[in-house]
Amino acid sequence: MEVRKDVYESEVNEIVKKMWGSFAIAVWHWHDKPYFLSKKRYFVLKVQVKPGFERILAKLLREVRKFKNGAYDDIKIKIRHGHISTLHIWWARRPLASSRATSFAALIPAPESIEEWEKKRQFIVELSKWENSLDRQIIEKAREEILKANGGKAPKVLDCFAGGGSIPLEALRLGCEAHAIEYNPVAVLILKCTLEYPQKYGRPKKIKVKNELGLEEEKEINPLLEDVKKWGNWVLKEAKKEIGKFYPEDEDGSIPVGYIWARTIPCQNPSCDAQIPLMRQFWLAKKNNKKISLYPFVEGKKVKFKIVGDGYEEMPKGFDPSKGTVSRAIATCPVCGYTVDDKTTRKLFQEGKSGPRFH
Ligand SMILES: C[S@@+](CC[C@H](N)C(=O)[O-])C[C@H]1O[C@@H](n2cnc3c(N)ncnc32)[C@H](O)[C@@H]1O
Ligand SMILES: [Zn+2]
Repeated sequence: MEVRKDVYESEVNEIVKKMWGSFAIAVWHWHDKPYFLSKKRYFVLKVQVKPGFERILAKLLREVRKFKNGAYDDIKIKIRHGHISTLHIWWARRPLASSRATSFAALIPAPESIEEWEKKRQFIVELSKWENSLDRQIIEKAREEILKANGGKAPKVLDCFAGGGSIPLEALRLGCEAHAIEYNPVAVLILKCTLEYPQKYGRPKKIKVKNELGLEEEKEINPLLEDVKKWGNWVLKEAKKEIGKFYPEDEDGSIPVGYIWARTIPCQNPSCDAQIPLMRQFWLAKKNNKKISLYPFVEGKKVKFKIVGDGYEEMPKGFDPSKGTVSRAIATCPVCGYTVDDKTTRKLFQEGKSGPRFH
């Protein structure tokens, strides 16, 4: 696997020419469509597909797109254990299911009969399912079919706009020799961590360590994991040195990981004068299996907050976190219940009488 950066149009063409000897496909998904399927999006280079191959690709892609509950599963649940999106977010990343389906379909010849067509279609649907990503039998079958169709040699696959790496990753999974080009340094790093480093440094190896008795013994480690731990801790230590002062420990010793910020206005009830935090709602988490919110309470003339809900203090009866202290610029004071009308709220902002507050 080779990840390259800073490669421009002419160079791309050169690379493709050199690679053509064996057979290369270059795919850039545009709105989930490999761009060589859409004539309008003919972008940097001419992509050639072996005669006969384009038919199966175009047709199968259409079929796979129809298959709502299988092949496209990984679009719906983006963050999953083992998915590259958990390594680093890349906003343009294409679904692994369609990348696997199109890469495979581009590398096998068109079926010759309706029966064969149906069989291949079924196989691609199975192959593209997220839960089959590590199914040795299915992956091996796909690899064999690709090898058979390409004279027993692993085909070269080039993605010259590789971004988050879905296409080269799936090409690797299918046993191809994958090449990736990208000019965004963030994407290049993601590609290196996804495609290169696990292969280069991710194999377990035995090292000698001293046990508690001072005796030497063998231990199996994964060098990549060790390095990620080591340098992850280094980043944490350095970050703490630089920005730790902005996250002082709470009374109970816990360290906040974030703050919620709200504007405030002074209550207009002359006998109150509390600072009203302007918050549309108090939810922190609102999932079916997890409901957590901030709960405002009054101490003296001050509005304070605590966290309530699943895993914390029980949510008080009758408290609706969807109802905040402000709606359409009409603010309600949690201390005395006075409402500040929208015109006054805006005026207080214009006069610079609003302030910030952190929770
Ligand atoms: C739509 S994204 C590709 C997404 C990718 N298929 C994936 O699954 O993440 C297009 C990528 O092309 C890259 N790009 C655009 N022009 C390029 C060039 N001339 N050379 C290399 N990369 C380029 C962009 O930085 C971007 O990451
Ligand atoms: Zn008040």
